[in-house]
Amino acid sequence: MPIAEKSKVTRKQLIDGLNDDLSREYQAIISYVNYSQVLKGAAYMNIADELAVHAKEELTHALKIDNHVDYLGGMPSVTPKSVKTSDKAEDMLKFDLANEKETIRQYRRRVRQADELNEFAIAESLRGILVEEQDHLIALATALGVDPPDAGIAD
Ligand SMILES: [Fe+2]
Ligand SMILES: [Fe+2]
Repeated sequence: MPIAEKSKVTRKQLIDGLNDDLSREYQAIISYVNYSQVLKGAAYMNIADELAVHAKEELTHALKIDNHVDYLGGMPSVTPKSVKTSDKAEDMLKFDLANEKETIRQYRRRVRQADELNEFAIAESLRGILVEEQDHLIALATALGVDPPDAGIAD
């Protein structure tokens, strides 16, 4: 094997990565529940309704990721990543956009890791979640009047 070849991902690394993803899902649930209710201004009412839909989708993601961590033999995280607050609608949408970008970046890596460990069912599940995260990213970018940013892929 060439020396330059990247070392193989371990099951432990996949569990740790998924637990980090789970903490991001909890963060997303809390921020979408909060922002969907406190967002003010006629211009933002459509997106406020959309954020309430996102909140429910993030809960579905959390349940799936929790299930994967448990199946892999890990203890699922119960800790959300921190949630920022603001009284400005634009700030809230920007926080969400940045979080969705990071979430996509991480799930892209997680799909690769799951594939590498032959955990194809988990990879398939993560791909389904990724489709919805990209929809979230697009909805937020559209509401902010910007192009959806390229999330790239985590190291
Ligand atoms: Fe999610
Ligand atoms: Fe999302």
